[in-house]
Amino acid sequence: MNDPLALRGVVRTYRGEAGDLPVLRGADLVLRAGEIVALVAPSGMGKSTLLHLAGLLEQPDGGQVLIDGRDCGGLSDTERTAIRRLRVGFVYQFHHLLPEFSALENVLLPQMIAGVARRNAESRARALLESFGLGARGGHLPGKLSGGEQQRVAIARALANAPWVLLADEPTGNLDVGTSDVVFTELLKTVRGQGVAALVATHNTELAARMDRVVTLRDGRVVPM
Ligand SMILES: Nc1ncnc2c1ncn2[C@@H]1O[C@H](COP(=O)(O)OP(=O)(O)OP(=O)(O)O)[C@@H](O)[C@H]1O
Ligand SMILES: [Mg+2]
Repeated sequence: MNDPLALRGVVRTYRGEAGDLPVLRGADLVLRAGEIVALVAPSGMGKSTLLHLAGLLEQPDGGQVLIDGRDCGGLSDTERTAIRRLRVGFVYQFHHLLPEFSALENVLLPQMIAGVARRNAESRARALLESFGLGARGGHLPGKLSGGEQQRVAIARALANAPWVLLADEPTGNLDVGTSDVVFTELLKTVRGQGVAALVATHNTELAARMDRVVTLRDGRVVPM
């Protein structure tokens, strides 16, 4: 079986007028199916950059990103987008829900874009919202939900297409301790139940300790913590 996600020697340098900023300098990381890995590093070290590259939202300047053993570097934008939609779930650092669509529609849309029939998409969306304790909130617009509820909708949305890889960027970053614990417990349960490979960037060392392994970034490389 292939590993759901592998980064091999990934390099990323931001180029600007003030000079080049090398953020990743040969990052290696493998996620196995059903494994949850915490990425803990100080602000500005490159956590979001690494997740965006792993999620095919950005292209590395060097090295390889493999999803299920397939090197995504040489693919066209269309092919990369298709793999991202079907195989990767992304929870953004700032949740990015579509404000004019209800919670249910936010979870339904990625499935419909992936070609799932409306009826099936809707029953999965309802089941996911239910499992995140939001069964009664499906009709609400994001603006009418609390921060914790919005973040749970974002996690449900990321899991909507039953991805192989879940990438979560500070999924509980803006929540109080109690709420972040509840949200994280739900995330952990769902990810374990579905055998998804997950990489979770967090500043919260207590949450990190509940994951299978903790890695950090040092000199642009991924190292165990
Ligand atoms: N689009 C960009 N253009 C130029 N520099 C960028 C860009 N995105 C990020 N950077 C820089 O790259 C470095 C890594 O940023 P990144 O967002 O990956 O850090 P992070 O570890 O996620 O930080 P945080 O914990 O604050 O979210 C930072 O110094 C940042 O300023
Ligand atoms: Mg970040």
